[in-house]
Amino acid sequence: PSNNKLQSAQLGDQFSSTGFILAAIGSSVGLGNMWKFPYITGMYGGAAFFLVFIGCLIFVGLPVLLAEMAIGRGGRGSAVSAFNTLSGSKYWGAFGFLAVLGAFAIMSYYGVIAGWTMHYSLISITGSLFENADYTSTFGSFVGGYTPLIWTVIAFLVTGVVIARGIKGGIEKFNKILIPGLMILLVILMVRGLTLPGAGAGVEFFLKPDFSKLTTQSVLVALGHAFFSLSLGMGTMLTYGTYVHRQQSLGKAAVAVGFGDLMYALIAGLIIFPTIFSYGIEPGQGPGLVFMALPAAFAAMPLGNLFGFLFFILLAVAALTSAVSLLEVPVTWAMDKLKMSRAKAAFWVTLICFIVGIPSALSFGVLADFAPGGKTYFDWFDFISSNVLLPVGGLLVTLFTGYAWKRAGEEAGLTGPIYKIWMFLLRYVAPVLIIVIFLFSLGVIKF
Ligand code: PHE
Repeated sequence: PSNNKLQSAQLGDQFSSTGFILAAIGSSVGLGNMWKFPYITGMYGGAAFFLVFIGCLIFVGLPVLLAEMAIGRGGRGSAVSAFNTLSGSKYWGAFGFLAVLGAFAIMSYYGVIAGWTMHYSLISITGSLFENADYTSTFGSFVGGYTPLIWTVIAFLVTGVVIARGIKGGIEKFNKILIPGLMILLVILMVRGLTLPGAGAGVEFFLKPDFSKLTTQSVLVALGHAFFSLSLGMGTMLTYGTYVHRQQSLGKAAVAVGFGDLMYALIAGLIIFPTIFSYGIEPGQGPGLVFMALPAAFAAMPLGNLFGFLFFILLAVAALTSAVSLLEVPVTWAMDKLKMSRAKAAFWVTLICFIVGIPSALSFGVLADFAPGGKTYFDWFDFISSNVLLPVGGLLVTLFTGYAWKRAGEEAGLTGPIYKIWMFLLRYVAPVLIIVIFLFSLGVIKF
């Protein structure tokens, strides 16, 4: 009887309407918004880049986002069986499996960075971060040691426990508390950033467009980031879509998620640029920006350890709500294909993903020299998942919805001219652009 109860709980486990939107925002708002977006904006032309990013989000991101949600709800299963059910052929599902692998691969190293952010919130509040003003070497010796492994375990534990508790009682609850909480943290930090002396220069850098800096390369980076930021091509939105009830408007949900993602990125920029400009730090520093540059600013401001703590907690929360959506993809797959209970699937997927992620956690230390082709284990996982599996998954979604699935418009709730525009974008615009980014990121074409 207990087994029966579990089965029916699984099948009836669905998001509420707001719960789904918050969970999807939680998935999309992640390290991409808080950590990657600011540094690529710094590198590729500030506000001009931001405008291009908005365009990519609206014209390519939103249509694909809606398509993924619709496939999930229409097919009701995992990223594999949804394609099979809707197409009536098993070949599409085989491609869907690439998305399951992609989500798994991203999570294996995403959990490591989530761990870094938790460590940094702790050492900010205790003040030990500020004992040595050489933040580059602090970061280097932290990621080069074994401490990241402990934090990776914690990140995976939190993620696994939330998923094991189910859609409504776990994932929805987690996001319902944390996503509004995230907004409060963002606003506090934005007010702090904007009231620092000299903050105006940062705002100007971020929001005043300089189109002379815009290159083809920056456009491609913006497009790739729009995909990553909306969590597309990895089956995450598809998997969440599986748990959406029939009455919910997917079009409205997609617009809300796109808008939410943009808002969080905008505010993250309004925290980071004013803060670093105010303390004379270079914006175009690359991935180390938040871990190596921002601590100097926190050290110099009054109550800096508190603001530093809030900032890194913000990153941790953003990372964990995305991590949950990533790991849910293989968990739903295991429930669906291997007929496991949710608890069992959550346990095994979390454990195996953690084990696969161990070398990523050590890629900055003992395994730093193990770098075939000039990339460490961590770099390879990032490269293959973000630059290969993600575009392939995105292409699959656009081609499937645009050409193979005849009832897509019905499921997405689109008719008339809006449907025609959606189809046009999915059939011609998105696939061509995805193929161009793909070839570009593989180095096959250069600009
Ligand atoms: N969108 C997340 C971020 O911005 C990352 C992510 C990618 C999550 C793909 C799920 C799937 O950090």
